[in-house]
Amino acid sequence: MIEVQYLDSEPRKHEPRTLSGGSFFEVRGSRFEVRGSKFEVRSARSEVRTSSMGVEIMRVKPWKRDIVESEDWVAMDRLPRHIAIIMDGNGRWAQKRALPRSMGHRAGVEALRQIVKTCSKLKIQVLTVYAFSTENWRRPKDEVGVLMTLLTEYLRKELLELQQNNVIIRTMGKINDLPLEAQHELAHAMESTRENTGLILNLALNYGGRAEIIDTVKSLSKEVLSGKLRIEEIDEQRFGESLYTRGLPDPDMLIRTSGEIRLSNFLLWQLAYTEIVIVEELWPDFGQKALIEAIKAYQKRDRRFGGIHTN
Ligand code: FPP
Repeated sequence: MIEVQYLDSEPRKHEPRTLSGGSFFEVRGSRFEVRGSKFEVRSARSEVRTSSMGVEIMRVKPWKRDIVESEDWVAMDRLPRHIAIIMDGNGRWAQKRALPRSMGHRAGVEALRQIVKTCSKLKIQVLTVYAFSTENWRRPKDEVGVLMTLLTEYLRKELLELQQNNVIIRTMGKINDLPLEAQHELAHAMESTRENTGLILNLALNYGGRAEIIDTVKSLSKEVLSGKLRIEEIDEQRFGESLYTRGLPDPDMLIRTSGEIRLSNFLLWQLAYTEIVIVEELWPDFGQKALIEAIKAYQKRDRRFGGIHTN
């Protein structure tokens, strides 16, 4: 339980209140959330101070208005833990503007920056993004080069901000086949963010879902051959623990931008019970608002995991 005190211009209008973790309250149309056994209160307009059993006092940073003030509030207690995104439509975005495709990818990096920030603020645990698939090598050499350069640039330029946002960088895919420069930047980014505790940004690079399953079969087979594992011990859980995503929960929600309705060899095992949200925006146009809308769509779904609801 926490006590919330309003230190605005009309303090007497708002008597201190005691609230339990997970509950919401409102001040002048803005909605606030109390998190955990202590608190975390977010405000768009009022300056709010909170005290936890009279012990701790903290001033809270404002949130962006469009998150806090959106009409139909996203339920903070039912956020997806893991969001996966197929960032599609960079090429079409550029084409619509008569720009080279490389500009579409560049705009795509900016969209990624915004989404990482928003996920971090929302305290999403994991964000997995499909940045380069095993099939993307089939694109013209120049375009592949641009994507690799953008990756290296992104890691160099954004590392500080990622650090400030407490983000942990992780990768999945055949990283050893990427250009050496990209590999070095990735290793550096992973090492420097290893101790962080916030959002895990999982970059799917040179990633293919089928290749991941084959790799997993191979690694389990080796364990069996070496006598470390018995065939009977292989079950869904053990298999999942050997995938590239080991240690991460399966995605709760998959977003694909640009209206295409296919999986494109992404997370084939892990998406078994994931809610799929297809949005029409091209990836470079997909911003914070669109993410909130996608989360709201996810929250309206009835997740049964193959069972039925009895109430
Ligand atoms: C699909 O759009 C997008 C990609 C193949 C690459 C996604 C990459 C980024 C968003 C930027 C780079 C990422 C990092 C981590 C720096 P498309 O080119 O297939 O679009 P189209 O279907 O309209 O042609």
